[in-house]
Amino acid sequence: MPTVDVPIYPRPFFCAVLKTLPPLMITPASRILGTGHYLPSIVRTNLDLERMVETSDEWIRERTGIRERRIAPEGIVTSDMATAAAKSALEAAELKPSDIDMILVGTVTPDMPMPATAVYVQQKLGAGSCPAMDLSAACAGFIFGLSIADQFIRSGTMKNILVIGVELLSRVVNWEDRTTCVLFGDGAGAVILGPAGGATTTDGKPRGVLSTKIQSDGALAQSLMIPGGGSVTPMSLEALELKRHKVHMKGQDIFKVAVKNLYSATKEALDLTGMTADQVDWICPHQANLRIIDFAATRLGVPKEKVLINIDRVGNTSSASIPILLDESIRSGKVHAGDTVAMCALGAGISWGGAIIRL
Ligand SMILES: CC(C)(COP(=O)(O)OP(=O)(O)OC[C@H]1O[C@@H](n2cnc3c(N)ncnc32)[C@H](O)[C@@H]1OP(=O)(O)O)[C@@H](O)C(=O)NCCC(=O)NCCS
Repeated sequence: MPTVDVPIYPRPFFCAVLKTLPPLMITPASRILGTGHYLPSIVRTNLDLERMVETSDEWIRERTGIRERRIAPEGIVTSDMATAAAKSALEAAELKPSDIDMILVGTVTPDMPMPATAVYVQQKLGAGSCPAMDLSAACAGFIFGLSIADQFIRSGTMKNILVIGVELLSRVVNWEDRTTCVLFGDGAGAVILGPAGGATTTDGKPRGVLSTKIQSDGALAQSLMIPGGGSVTPMSLEALELKRHKVHMKGQDIFKVAVKNLYSATKEALDLTGMTADQVDWICPHQANLRIIDFAATRLGVPKEKVLINIDRVGNTSSASIPILLDESIRSGKVHAGDTVAMCALGAGISWGGAIIRL
């Protein structure tokens, strides 16, 4: 059999060649048509927490950047918050519930284990019989949903997909554990993803989802979990007494991996587009801890003014974090149509991801 000699070029050679090429011409399949969010009205401040556990406003602000968080009142459930955010996103997209072809809900605090929270959202919106499902990727749930929705639109199977990130963490947080209860808050964010349809900015750049990159590493599953209520530790009186139905976290383990992976997620998503960090207008990171965000942004070489932040007012709302921040930033007039936004998130699993979009 004849053989062909294939030259083996060293990696630096390829990198040098790649740098001489113009940015990739990306043709986005999908585009964000509208965004919305919902935050419950109850504000729980650090001073409120000082009265509940041994902590201080100073410690929480310095170690996390959080001043206050929102708490859902009794009677409000996860699907209520998700539906409110979805209605607002539909209105912004000028679409009706019957226009939705699929509903994806990222959440680790569903209405109940079965059925999916997404079907309650479907029912409350009055959307037709489109597929509706939940995604469990914790704080990365929204990026996972966006990536999956983009693939369905790219394949031509679906047109308009409602992607929601929603959490009612106050019901699964142990309010006696100061290492976790100070971090989390409740809320919902939603986007409608639809066909990009060749839309461009005024200077001719394609608008839409330019890239997504999602990853998981089960080796770190023990770092952040709600260990009870599943097949490992079914609901029992003993499990309840041991608070196995509450959030358990090894904070420092998550901190270290979050700094590393938020950087790599953004970098890898950028590499897929041929862009560099200085070419994006905004970084819209998951709001887990201001110090994590600062470290990751510094490593990316992005100045503070380009980093969107609302952790001081809402805390860590897990999968809802990015879509709430994005919608707030658009509605406040800070972020505009045509802006390029890099999103990145990491959470339990661990699961993480990045996405580059041009609005
Ligand atoms: C949880 C987190 C804020 C803790 O901050 P930290 O700087 O790592 O603090 P440490 O865990 O080293 O604890 C330092 C001290 O503060 C204490 N402490 C912890 N929580 C406290 C609180 N709420 N108030 C006051 N003191 C607190 C600790 O007990 C410890 O005391 P010790 O030194 O006497 O043992 C930080 O690790 C973090 O943000 N991790 C990532 C969490 C995360 O993002 N989770 C969600 C994933 S999306």
